[in-house]
Amino acid sequence: MRMRRTIRSTMILALAVSACTAGVAKDHAPVTAAKAAAVAAQTGAEPFQALVDDAHARFAGVSDGKNADYIPVLATIPSDLYGVAIATRDGHVYAAGDVDYRFSVQSVSKPFTAALVMQQYGGPEIIAQKIGVEPTGMAFNSKLALEIYKAHSVNPLVNAGAIAAVSLVKAKNEKDRWQQILANLEGFAGSEKLPLLEKVYDSEYSTAWGNRGIANLLYNWERLYADPEESLRVYTKQCSVGITTRDLAMMGATLANGGVNPKTGKRMLDETSVPELLAVMLTAGFYDESGRWSFDAGLPSKTGVGGGIVAVVPGRFAIAAFSPRLNEAGNSVRAQKAIRYIAGKLGVGIFGPNPE
Ligand code: DON
Repeated sequence: MRMRRTIRSTMILALAVSACTAGVAKDHAPVTAAKAAAVAAQTGAEPFQALVDDAHARFAGVSDGKNADYIPVLATIPSDLYGVAIATRDGHVYAAGDVDYRFSVQSVSKPFTAALVMQQYGGPEIIAQKIGVEPTGMAFNSKLALEIYKAHSVNPLVNAGAIAAVSLVKAKNEKDRWQQILANLEGFAGSEKLPLLEKVYDSEYSTAWGNRGIANLLYNWERLYADPEESLRVYTKQCSVGITTRDLAMMGATLANGGVNPKTGKRMLDETSVPELLAVMLTAGFYDESGRWSFDAGLPSKTGVGGGIVAVVPGRFAIAAFSPRLNEAGNSVRAQKAIRYIAGKLGVGIFGPNPE
């Protein structure tokens, strides 16, 4: 019975994907959400559900990489956890695996706080002026990159630029700064309440010597716009917010939907600011692997050392995956594989289909 179901779903997936990719081959156009829906209507199948199931099953056995351990508590997260989800512009979430497990958002939070800063200052230019938008080609916590580039904070997706983004949030005091940042993440996720994972926060803040150094250097260079220790604390809290893979998919879908959360209908970012944010995600979202990821998947994306990755298919949907084992650059091994597989099967790279 199980076998028959597997064969049936494999056939449905093959039909759905071949219908999708046949369209791609003929007119060299990426498959749109509408096309995918049309395929679903024709086949009675849900290609997105079949795809997330397939991507989950296909890489479930991969055990390459290891949990982050420079934040000690992350080493204790069960390494086998693995979830995959797609969230569409109409608010549907297609999910497989451990998609309700709450993990720390870490660096995946960074583009969303950059979005908040864009909203508060009337557009994306503030980021270019006060932080920078150059990819560093170096690790997310590189101090060398800060020395080399004149815009010392470099871009809002490395630690330095993200701490600077936190410092730019217009706030009355530290509590207000934190509450605004949390509320913004909740707004993107379409979730009424996201928790602060206290153990993650304590573990990171008590060992944050490198980030403290970065914050102090930025302050010295006048590239930090609030008290350094306050900025560091609120940044570390931001990274310690607990999200699920479903939440992450919805956060990405909000960017795919021109800045409006598909679930709540709330505008989180002006439509005119979305392209600039996605551009930085494309060029810097994977740090020193951003080139390779753009080459392979062709999608603006963001990773985090908690194991989450989100990739945005502009105007259509978002693909999110979570798995704690990371490669050397701090990017989740299985999450990359799952997203790359789905993007390849659907042919949705922004420069044209990158077949799987
Ligand atoms: O500041 C840090 O080092 C972490 N809170 C976030 C780093 C991170 O997620 C890098 N991403 N892959």
